[in-house]
Amino acid sequence: MLKIKEKIPVGILGATGSVGQKFVELLQDHPWFRITALAASERSEGKLYRHAVNWFQKTPLAPRIGIMPVSACLPKLPCRIVFSGLDAEIAGPVEKSFAKAGYVVISNAKNHRMEEDVPLLIPEVNPEHLVLIEKQGSRGKLITNPNCSTIGLAMALKPLQDAFGLEKVSVVTLQALSGAGYPGVSSLDIIDNVIPYIGGEEEKIQIETLKILGSCKDGKVDFADIIVSAQCNRVAVIDGHSESVAVKLKQRCKKEDMIAAWREFRAEPQKLALPSAPDMPLMYFDEAAYPQPKLHRDLGGGMTVSIGRLRDCSVLDYKFTVLSHNTIRGAAGCAILNAELLVKKGYLDEH
Ligand SMILES: NC(=O)c1ccc[n+]([C@@H]2O[C@H](COP(=O)([O-])OP(=O)(O)OC[C@H]3O[C@@H](n4cnc5c(N)ncnc54)[C@H](OP(=O)(O)O)[C@@H]3O)[C@@H](O)[C@H]2O)c1
Repeated sequence: MLKIKEKIPVGILGATGSVGQKFVELLQDHPWFRITALAASERSEGKLYRHAVNWFQKTPLAPRIGIMPVSACLPKLPCRIVFSGLDAEIAGPVEKSFAKAGYVVISNAKNHRMEEDVPLLIPEVNPEHLVLIEKQGSRGKLITNPNCSTIGLAMALKPLQDAFGLEKVSVVTLQALSGAGYPGVSSLDIIDNVIPYIGGEEEKIQIETLKILGSCKDGKVDFADIIVSAQCNRVAVIDGHSESVAVKLKQRCKKEDMIAAWREFRAEPQKLALPSAPDMPLMYFDEAAYPQPKLHRDLGGGMTVSIGRLRDCSVLDYKFTVLSHNTIRGAAGCAILNAELLVKKGYLDEH
């Protein structure tokens, strides 16, 4: 652990929201980073953080953070890295203004994900895409996290793509309430109910998966040649997105080979021993009724993606279930892991 004055100062945009709070929870005792700025909308601006936020995380809010004032989202915050949990309505120009001013911005919003020179990064899946930032003209840099359901899906698909190749993927999601932000979906809408529509989500999963699993050549991503079809549902689970996945592989294989590919999967964050990297990025369960959100979402500090129920599929080749913690692996935790990779690869030294 670094001494406090040696830690890299970081700020959080949208610090009061569902993802923003998760950033605060994960960063308040981080070995490399120290929270030095919190920012949100004008509704929160000027208030002490503990008065502006409705804190609903399990870890108590550190007193030092609670008494920090909430700033406006303007590029004059006292930090080097900015983690963004901003609403997509305003994330676009705000994040760009920070990158232009020289900050390293790590975003959870959808706005810049598909830009050619912006990495859509999952450190276990496509760390080589980080080179895209060298093409960015701004003084600072902009890196994005994929959509929360896409992250769990892409992590489960990566070892299959590497070992057997992928032709077609069909996914049906059962997405948690915290994915809709705070206060999110009204209780009258979701208790005793399933909502079979999440605006824009299916399109994001279908296109982002192809960019993430694409290959990076000469500073450009060649999108993966896979057909992906997604159907998304909101369910009455607080945290943890479940996904029922079916795949058609390029090369026929046995179920044991797929399970071995998941169980043996280790990647760059594990090799580099990054602080937020789980020992096991993927955990395959043999139990018939696993994985379940209530039981498995917090595995590996919320960074392990759980897989189970592998069986034959009569339409495609095989089907299985994936579970990932949407605000940790699917948002704040993945963004922090992105920042750790950036630091370890020396990208912060150059500026
Ligand atoms: N929730 C998830 O699981 C998840 C996963 C992956 C990605 N994402 C993405 O992450 C982002 C945040 O999602 P969320 O679920 O945390 O949303 P949220 O709970 O609604 O939080 C939104 C945050 O943005 C701030 N904000 C809203 N309008 C603003 C403005 N005009 N100026 C400055 N700040 C403003 C809010 O501040 P106030 O409190 O002051 O209003 C709040 O801090 C979204 O782009 C979302 O798509 C979410």
